[in-house]
Amino acid sequence: MTITHLQDTVTLNNDVKMPQFGLGVWKAKDGDETYAAVKHALQHGYRAIDTAAAYKNEESVGKAIKDAGVPREELFITTKVWNADQGYDSTIRAFETSLEKLGLEYIDLYLIHWPVKDKYNDTWKALERLYNDGKVRAIGVCNFHIHHLEDLLSEAKIVPAVNQVEFHPLLTQEPLRDFCKSKGIYFEGWSPLGNGRLLDNASIQAIADKYNKTVAQVILRWHLQNDAITIPKSVTPSRIEENAAIFDFELSAEDMNAINALNKDERTGADPDNFNF
Ligand SMILES: NC(=O)c1ccc[n+]([C@@H]2O[C@H](COP(=O)([O-])OP(=O)(O)OC[C@H]3O[C@@H](n4cnc5c(N)ncnc54)[C@H](OP(=O)(O)O)[C@@H]3O)[C@@H](O)[C@H]2O)c1
Repeated sequence: MTITHLQDTVTLNNDVKMPQFGLGVWKAKDGDETYAAVKHALQHGYRAIDTAAAYKNEESVGKAIKDAGVPREELFITTKVWNADQGYDSTIRAFETSLEKLGLEYIDLYLIHWPVKDKYNDTWKALERLYNDGKVRAIGVCNFHIHHLEDLLSEAKIVPAVNQVEFHPLLTQEPLRDFCKSKGIYFEGWSPLGNGRLLDNASIQAIADKYNKTVAQVILRWHLQNDAITIPKSVTPSRIEENAAIFDFELSAEDMNAINALNKDERTGADPDNFNF
């Protein structure tokens, strides 16, 4: 599969099309920082934005969306229900708050942010209702291990469209990726650059030199060729552009394998079996 453009989409299990590449905004400060980053990305051709209630920047994302001049139907906006809001009624309320902050009439993808024990199945029922009411075009989860997904699927009426989890060359998640594929759940990676910590990796630098690309570009290209949806975060205009310039080269099978082999099952974020927030 050759990916030729940063607006190229993948097809989710309900036939909704989602851009395979987008901008993440975790840690982007509410106000000018988020506003300018999102607006720059959209004007540069990005079409997908990944935010969350917990990032506390939905209002700035919404303002940038309004001002960027891109028709709403061309955009794909993801937000997430935070842990403290999980449960049926509180999730419906949290969704309405996010919708209002974003200034939108619908969300493209609404995700459970973390698998809060004894809560996520009720939360999922709320997402199913929002989906059936037409307020969100697709629903999914984040940070679900295989056992969380098996548990959810045993009660769910709707199979999650997406599982968004930490994914990068030091955490290649092969069993989870295979499981998601077998269930029709699209695999989406967060912290594709290891939250910036992978950018001085000497092995990837050697590969990047061969293609005249940066380490960030090689890592993001590796995500695309692994059929993952990717959402690198940057608030720096030149990096927003650099990260999107990955549609004009293809990593060889040998280089893909060399990057796959860097796996150490090493997380930069919390383990979904052991988080305390
Ligand atoms: N569902 C979840 O639980 C979850 C958890 C974590 C993240 N996410 C999502 O995934 C997105 C991406 O993950 P992330 O923000 O953790 O980290 P990331 O995208 O792996 O890395 C972002 C960091 O790398 C820097 N950077 C970006 N492009 C660069 C480049 N070309 N050269 C050098 N440095 C570069 C950024 O700096 P500047 O911004 O200063 O340019 C920032 O410090 C998040 O923003 C969020 O939307 C979801």
